[in-house]
This record gives sequence, C-alpha cells and structure tokens, in this order.
Amino acid sequence: MEFKDKVVLVTGAAGGIGIAAARKFAAEGAKLALVDLKMEALEKAAAGLDEALLLTADVADEADVKAYVEQTVAHFGRIDVFVNNAGINGDFKNIEEQTFENYSNVLNINVIGVAMGLKHVVAQMKSQGGGAIVNTASNGGLLGAPGMSAYVASKHAVIGINKSVALEAAPHKIRVNAVCPSGVDTQMMRSIEERATASGAENARETFESSVPLGRYAEADEIADLMLFLASDRASFITGAYYRIDGGGGATSV
Ligand SMILES: NC(=O)c1ccc[n+]([C@@H]2O[C@H](COP(=O)([O-])OP(=O)(O)OC[C@H]3O[C@@H](n4cnc5c(N)ncnc54)[C@H](O)[C@@H]3O)[C@@H](O)[C@H]2O)c1
Repeated sequence: MEFKDKVVLVTGAAGGIGIAAARKFAAEGAKLALVDLKMEALEKAAAGLDEALLLTADVADEADVKAYVEQTVAHFGRIDVFVNNAGINGDFKNIEEQTFENYSNVLNINVIGVAMGLKHVVAQMKSQGGGAIVNTASNGGLLGAPGMSAYVASKHAVIGINKSVALEAAPHKIRVNAVCPSGVDTQMMRSIEERATASGAENARETFESSVPLGRYAEADEIADLMLFLASDRASFITGAYYRIDGGGGATSV
C-alpha cells in the first residue's frame, strides 16, 4: 500500500496509459481524481473504481485546467501525485503538407495543456508542502520521426518544460519527472497503425513491433509501473529526469 490515502490526479485517464496508471495507484491505496474529455469514456474506463472522482476537462483550456485542480482539492483536500498524461498524436504529414491547424492543435494539447497542468498543480503542491509529478513525454521527445514533426516537437517541449519546472519546484519539495515510452499497445498505436495501413503499409503492427529490439509494443501497465516508481518515495532523489522505456530502441542512438 505504497500510496495509501495519497491523492493522485491523472489526466488522459480514459486512455490506455492513464487508466493503467490509475488502477495501479488505486491498488496501492490511492484516492483518484481522473480527468478526460468525455464523461462517458471516463466512466467506461474507470469501471469498478467506485471512489474515483471523475472530471471532464479539455487540458488545452486553462479555465478547464484550473477547474479540475480546484475540484480535486475541494473533494480530497490536496494533490500528492499528478500524472500529467493527456496527449494526442495529430495528423502525420511531411512538413510541406502540415497545416497550421494541426500544429496548433498538437502543441495546444501536448505542450500548453501540460504546462497549464503544471502551473496549477505546482501552486497547489507548494501550498501543501510538496508532491510528485510525472509528465508523459515520448521517445518522440528524444528522436526525430518523419511525418511526425508536430508530435515530436511537442514531446521535445515536454522534456524541456519538465527540466525547467523541476528546477523551479525542487526548493518546494516537489519532484518533477518524465517518462518517454516508445509504441504502447493502446488506442494511440491503433490510430497510427490505421494511418500507416491507409497509406499503403502492409502488416503495420508487425512492422512497428519488429523495429523494437524487444520485438513488441509496451503494455500500458509497464509504463504505469515506471510512473508509480517515479511518483513514489523510492524515487525520493530523482527530479528533472526523463526515462526512456522503449524496449531498447533508444540504445541505437546517442
Ligand atoms: N501509445 C503510445 O504508443 C505512446 C507512446 C509514447 C507516448 N505516449 C503518450 O502517452 C500519453 C497517453 O497516451 P495513450 O497511449 O494512453 O493514448 P490514448 O489515446 O489511449 O489516451 C490519451 C487520452 O488523452 C485524452 N485527451 C486527448 N486530448 C485531450 C484534451 N484536450 N483534454 C483532455 N484529455 C485529452 C484522450 O481522450 C485519451 O483518453 C499521451 O501523452 C501520449 O502522447 C503514448
């Protein structure tokens, strides 16, 4: 019961990684506040997590972000752990076919959404004397990928924000770390596979999986395990760090 009675706030909680993390925190005794765009999807994902506070918000809208933080504090009194995880991949196109709208949308959700989450949660954690934050970046925060410049830019930005906010927050006993997964077996990879198939790729899943040294996608639970470790007191001297969790993919680069 490593998180007994700790209040854990997760965004993107109707998605694969968010709900996997939420379930693991709950199994360790945490009280959950779960945020996503649509209540129906949240209720479905959170089935059986009867005590969880379910909140709808668009993380790209600061008023919504302020509201999900305030509602969590009104309900539970504090926020011990923040899993700043909501994200989209957007359209995959080479740069000359990219649209202003796609770039804006990806950066608004993946960068400004993450930054505004940090803004409001760090203020709360300061006032209560500490906390732990895990930002979801990506191996796309460390590597380039053709057709994915908007997503890649957004996840590089998450790592930069992660480092800077970790330095700002360290004197207040708030730790801020990031995870950098490669392909994880969630809805996000399904949409990437569908797009690859639509543009003529055969056996997209097999091709993607065989490019990973361990030969497969990660399970959402494997990413969740790293998030729990980083949020726990076992990681008490870790902050401003970002962790590759990529089946060995990053070992082929610097
Ligand atoms: N699946 C992968 O292969 C992979 C790899 C690396 C990083 N990631 C990152 O992990 C995080 C979680 O992704 P996932 O794999 O669980 O995907 P997912 O699509 O299953 O979940 C993402 C969730 O975020 C929510 N979301 C999207 N935009 C939102 C907004 N504006 N406001 C509130 N919620 C919003 C979605 O509704 C969805 O429930 C994302 O940040 C993603 O970029 C995923």
